[in-house]
Amino acid sequence: MDKRYFSDKVVEWYEHNKRELPWRDTKDPYRIWLSEIILQQTRVNQGLPYYLQFVEKFPDVGALASAPEQDVLRLWQGLGYYSRARNLHKCAQEVVANHRSIFPSTFESLKKLPGIGDYTAAAIASFSFKETVAVVDGNVFRVLARIFGIEDVINSPAGKKRFTILANELISRERPDLHNQAVMEFGALHCTPKNPACPTCPFTMSCVASENKIQHLLPVKLKSKAPRKRYFYYFVIRKGKSLWMKKREKKDIWHGLFDFFLIEKNQPTAIKKIIDEWNDKNRTDFQARDIDISVPYKHVLSHQVIITKFILIETRQFGRSFAMEPLQNYSVKKISELPKPVLISRFLSDYQLL
Ligand code: ADE
Repeated sequence: MDKRYFSDKVVEWYEHNKRELPWRDTKDPYRIWLSEIILQQTRVNQGLPYYLQFVEKFPDVGALASAPEQDVLRLWQGLGYYSRARNLHKCAQEVVANHRSIFPSTFESLKKLPGIGDYTAAAIASFSFKETVAVVDGNVFRVLARIFGIEDVINSPAGKKRFTILANELISRERPDLHNQAVMEFGALHCTPKNPACPTCPFTMSCVASENKIQHLLPVKLKSKAPRKRYFYYFVIRKGKSLWMKKREKKDIWHGLFDFFLIEKNQPTAIKKIIDEWNDKNRTDFQARDIDISVPYKHVLSHQVIITKFILIETRQFGRSFAMEPLQNYSVKKISELPKPVLISRFLSDYQLL
């Protein structure tokens, strides 16, 4: 297919079918960067309220840079991949400190910032600065794999390279911004993973996948390995409604968020054994019957499944203070302001502790 034809057709489709989205009305690299980092986590419908809250609370890069990290994490709460939120904050600080609060304007210079990889750099460089550099995300892989019949594995370095080369051959030099938005939107709305709208597709006549009826087989992706199972046993120590919580400091999921005292196992373990372990550590003598045990919670992350039970203990059962790590007592109001994993928020809400 003629390259010019591809770009003209997809842009024409876009002009007629695009969604009106707030980050499409701006060339401001700060807003475009924010939207793209958020949209890497989530679909447009779910990401939109996060975007609006971020621009309201942090209208420019200086406001974001000077906020406490905890506030940024709290606003990000629910989006997952919290290292992205920490990088977002770091990136804002670097733009302020080293770039006079002005985002760099080229693909190569943008990539040097924390949390900005090929995809985000291409999005900012093309949308804000009209640099001719193609974005390659899941939507782009799918559209190109199907129309051009490419069977390379998309989650391999060689596959990614092949798609990136093709995407950069196809991009319009006159309107790289529109072209990139158009291919992504076409993938998101028309050439969807399941049930693509082939009967009304502008590329029906030239789409290799459609011609061979292999739309559902493309793009080719290697299956990731089975998720790691982790078993969390949380001790929720309460005094009325105030709770002892701690900040997660280790290099692990949820770094910087708040949870409870945790005993982790790599296999399901009897609650009695967990409580014995607690009693040994803390020189107490609780029995399972003295304590409330929650229903099991299953929390699915991209490469892990966390199976959790919460063990609720009233402090009056202690009879003396306890000396456990950096646990600290927080009031209900304070807890509502702390950044927490969704698993913890779900539990607090279910047990009416918040
Ligand atoms: N997904 C990722 N980036 C997007 C954008 N700019 N518009 C809509 N969906 C997107």
